[in-house]
Amino acid sequence: MVDVVSKNNDLTCRLNFKDPMQFLLVVGTTLRVNLDRDAPPGCKFFSVKCSQNVLYTISPTPNETSHLSPMLLSGNTVLHIGTKRHFHPSPSYKEKLTIRFYGEKKAFIGDAQLELVPLELSLDVDADRDGVVERNNPNKASWKWGPDGHGAVVLVNCDRESYYHEKPDCQTKGHKPNQTALKDCATMVLRTSGPPNLSGGYKLTLHISQGDSECIRVYRDETEDEARITKAKMPIFIRQCVNEFPLVLSSEVLSQEVPYPGPDQELIFYVEGLRFPDKDFDGLVTINLSLVRTSRKGVPETPVFTDKVVFRVSPWIMTPNTLQPQEVFICSTSDNYQFLKGMQDLVDRSGHKLKILQEYKNRGDRWIQDELEFGYVDSPYHRFPVVLDSPRDGDLDYFPYGDLLGRDFGYVKREAQRDAVSSLDSFGNLEVSPPVTVNGKKYPLGRILIGVAFPTTTNGRNMTQVVQDFLWAQKVQEPVALYSDWLVVGHVDEFMTFVPAPDRKGFRLLLASPHAGYKIFKKLQNDGHGQAKIFEGLKDEKPVTVDKILSDDRLRLQNEYVQDCIDWNRDVLKKELGLDEEDIIDLPILFKLVTKGKQERAVAYYPDMVNMIVLGKHLGIPKPFGPKVNGRCVLEAKMCSLMEGLGLTCTFIDDFASYHKLLGEVHCGSNVRRKPFDFKWWNVEL
Ligand SMILES: *[C@@H]1O[C@H](CO)[C@@H](O)[C@H](O)[C@H]1NC(C)=O
Ligand SMILES: *[C@@H]1O[C@H](CO)[C@@H](O)[C@H](O)[C@H]1NC(C)=O
Ligand SMILES: *[C@@H]1O[C@H](CO)[C@@H](O)[C@H](O)[C@H]1NC(C)=O
Ligand SMILES: *[C@@H]1O[C@H](CO)[C@@H](O)[C@H](O)[C@H]1NC(C)=O
Ligand SMILES: *[C@@H]1O[C@H](CO)[C@@H](O)[C@H](O)[C@H]1NC(C)=O
Repeated sequence: MVDVVSKNNDLTCRLNFKDPMQFLLVVGTTLRVNLDRDAPPGCKFFSVKCSQNVLYTISPTPNETSHLSPMLLSGNTVLHIGTKRHFHPSPSYKEKLTIRFYGEKKAFIGDAQLELVPLELSLDVDADRDGVVERNNPNKASWKWGPDGHGAVVLVNCDRESYYHEKPDCQTKGHKPNQTALKDCATMVLRTSGPPNLSGGYKLTLHISQGDSECIRVYRDETEDEARITKAKMPIFIRQCVNEFPLVLSSEVLSQEVPYPGPDQELIFYVEGLRFPDKDFDGLVTINLSLVRTSRKGVPETPVFTDKVVFRVSPWIMTPNTLQPQEVFICSTSDNYQFLKGMQDLVDRSGHKLKILQEYKNRGDRWIQDELEFGYVDSPYHRFPVVLDSPRDGDLDYFPYGDLLGRDFGYVKREAQRDAVSSLDSFGNLEVSPPVTVNGKKYPLGRILIGVAFPTTTNGRNMTQVVQDFLWAQKVQEPVALYSDWLVVGHVDEFMTFVPAPDRKGFRLLLASPHAGYKIFKKLQNDGHGQAKIFEGLKDEKPVTVDKILSDDRLRLQNEYVQDCIDWNRDVLKKELGLDEEDIIDLPILFKLVTKGKQERAVAYYPDMVNMIVLGKHLGIPKPFGPKVNGRCVLEAKMCSLMEGLGLTCTFIDDFASYHKLLGEVHCGSNVRRKPFDFKWWNVEL
């Protein structure tokens, strides 16, 4: 009967020889009795007798096998008393244990009687993440990452169930969730078997720390309560006044008594996440259930037993280009009819859904890539898309909050100081790689990529700290900082993207490459096409010959500098994503430097083909307006030949006047909500 001894929940009790002593004994815990200390004077022997659900051990272990006849009492004899698990309660719910004491010659001295009321008690969560709240999982109080890990998951309830309030549910104080809203919450169950009620000053309380109470709220399901069922028979207008899911724990109520459900009963609770992991929050929250006892009035209650569960808040997860598109977003403006038509054709061809934001919504702001980033949250019970709103706050600012946020569409934002926000805070500067393995370390959800200032510059622009902190705190897509401050606009999507591939790692990294551009132009010249022109047929743009481009030494120097910047990033990407040369494709793109403020920074010379939209096997690429040979643009031809081998089709979209001239391209002017990963984030090995 060694299993009687529990490690944590040990209570010492003092024997009393007058009346039977009553104890509520929680299954899994033990009462400890120091026999020698509590024995009446002159005792030399003792014996023990108990009813069938009681388990006990004596230490040191006596020589006798039967404990009914007197055994020698030594100076350190201790009795540990517990009860069986999954017991069949006696009709009175009481179990008995009697300790009899004897003097010299085994003469009877006295009996100490204990009346034990066994109680099985567990606070339960879905620690094995199968969508079912199992009973008393041994791992429910801790978190472990990975496929053989454990720990319950809770979502930040950042969608908006009701149109009556404006903010996401998690930011709305005192919102009264109903059955529909509770699907966003994790279930927690209090299970009990024991007596019909708790008497003798015992009660149950749930509690939480102040810090954790800022991160979750707990509701109780009262729909099954007897009082509610009676009310359910009442007229509907009365029922509507009854809150069926009252708040139990919140930042205002850190501890609350909960009713004892009774023999073989359970109480259901709903746990609602309030905030995402961040610099000051590692994502883990703890909820305690305690059985407390007040022995006498005026004496503080003492905890008899504490059970504990842990939840981890789902991180916000980004979706790379290799995932299936679900919805494509672009903006309609007074001047971009050509672009809309090109995009409509592309999206039709790829079979996806196009959503065009009309001007009254976008208020003339076409850079929908920059205003928001689509991601999602996931748990074994529910998942939904969540938009991360950029601190850019352009004229599109209202769209994520006003239009996307809604039922099963979450919203999160990190507020930055206005003067701390730069162009690098636009989310063209926030991308994510496909899944990679780097020196044996797996990133099954890919790695986030952001652009910052070159490490040695002192006055460079950076992505604002609050957004960086947020991204790093999500953990499952560990970010990589690239160098993008060399560009006027300063976004990583101006020099890189990923396309799906049938072989190797399942994708290719595409990089803008002035070298590759010069190579093509040089070959054209060598082949006698030096007089071919870029920008031909464009209104308001002077065509330039290949010869002229090649003879422009300033432009060449500028492009060498740009190539250095991209090469620096290439090395970082190879190292941090574990890429080989064969995983990278160089796209022929030239840049030029312009003076912005005091600094010279780069912009694309002709439409920046790497700034494309990837819709499965269909690529929407800025039409480069390159030099033509036999009526075919050599840049388009090169692009197609590079992509064809991967089974990808190229559609060139004219974005020249309405995007390129405004320092953006197709990718900057579009956004794609994609299907979440099948891979579950909690299986990431950190
Ligand atoms: C158990 O038996 C041994 C010898 O057989 C004796 O020395 C010892 O005192 C006994 N212990 C108890 C607790 O009776
Ligand atoms: C819950 O409330 C929302 C609005 O707040 C309502 O649309 C929905 O129908 C309600 N669900 C139930 C089951 O009453
Ligand atoms: C508590 O349960 C006992 C039986 O164990 C019963 O006799 C008693 O009336 C109950 N008390 C209350 C207040 O329900
Ligand atoms: C929860 O219980 C654990 C140990 O049982 C304790 O360390 C912790 O302080 C408790 N937390 C709260 C908020 O009561
Ligand atoms: C910009 O952010 C990066 C990445 O977090 C950091 O390493 C760097 O020190 C920051 N640079 C400046 C100038 O703040």
